[in-house]
Amino acid sequence: MKQDLEITPEKFFKVRRRFLKLGAGTLVSALMADNLLAAVLKEQELEFKEMNAQEAFALNGELLEATKEEIATSYNNFYEFGFFKTDPKNKAHSLKTSPWDIRIEGEIEEPFSISYTDLLSKVHLVERVYRFRCVEAWSMVIPWVGFELRELIELARPNANAKYVRFTTLYDPKQFPMQGIMQLLDFPYKEVLRLDEAMHPLTLLAVGMYKKPLPPQNGAPLRLVVPWKYGYKSIKSINKIEFLKDKPISTWEAENPKEYGFYGNVDPEVSHPRWSQKSERVIGKRGQIATLYLNGYASEVEHFYQGLDRTKLY
Ligand code: MTE
Repeated sequence: MKQDLEITPEKFFKVRRRFLKLGAGTLVSALMADNLLAAVLKEQELEFKEMNAQEAFALNGELLEATKEEIATSYNNFYEFGFFKTDPKNKAHSLKTSPWDIRIEGEIEEPFSISYTDLLSKVHLVERVYRFRCVEAWSMVIPWVGFELRELIELARPNANAKYVRFTTLYDPKQFPMQGIMQLLDFPYKEVLRLDEAMHPLTLLAVGMYKKPLPPQNGAPLRLVVPWKYGYKSIKSINKIEFLKDKPISTWEAENPKEYGFYGNVDPEVSHPRWSQKSERVIGKRGQIATLYLNGYASEVEHFYQGLDRTKLY
């Protein structure tokens, strides 16, 4: 597959690019996936040391301070565990994230399943510090560990029909109590990107944060991170990725199309029907800050949306 990829200036994130090297003879299958990632992160500890998550990080000419880890891992949205921000941390510890397989199918050369551990051995891990803006008008700054989604797309080899990528969260009501108890949302949670958005180097599949494996409440073992879109696009605990010809409906779009668009692009000029999006509450800090178009990443990605009427939800 041939795609035109722009080179993203590194001013938008600090990059640590590392091949995940597994020593010859490592019994990968015998290692729990989390332990494997923890071992790799430990190996890279020295590299990461200079990037203390609590430091201020330069982004787009300004200084950004990472949200405290305790806050980012205890104030969460993960409706499979309940409505309250504290539910995910209190209830997600039972989520079994190993073994974990990801099914890749749809408009690709050959559908396949890949284990999380195999996938880790095929990609380059990076640390990226991104703004994270929820549609509920709050924000954080998160140091993610993950890999560019385009690496997985290249492994999948989509055919010329593929125009959209759909991600699905594991469906298992035994582990995700809300999936069984009530139809709050049309579970399993699904999210969709256009293929060109998915190929953008800013788009990550995260496996860790704060230099550690992702905790279950933040979407272990694998979640999407699209920093210029509202947080609802960043689907957690993914176990299926499909390449599609026609645009499917994503979970929030199906739930309430007047409030949650397909694109979910951060835009201070487009109010949510029930509140303004002009400013955001920075979790862990006092007061509000102005919200930036495309969450501060406009120079990288605004070309995707030329010609779209920003006042409409698509
Ligand atoms: N993914 C799943 N499967 N279920 C969810 O409820 N919530 C979304 C997104 N991904 C959600 C999800 C929303 S609304 C937000 S704001 C972010 O996850 C929150 O991510 P965080 O808890 O890591 O901050």
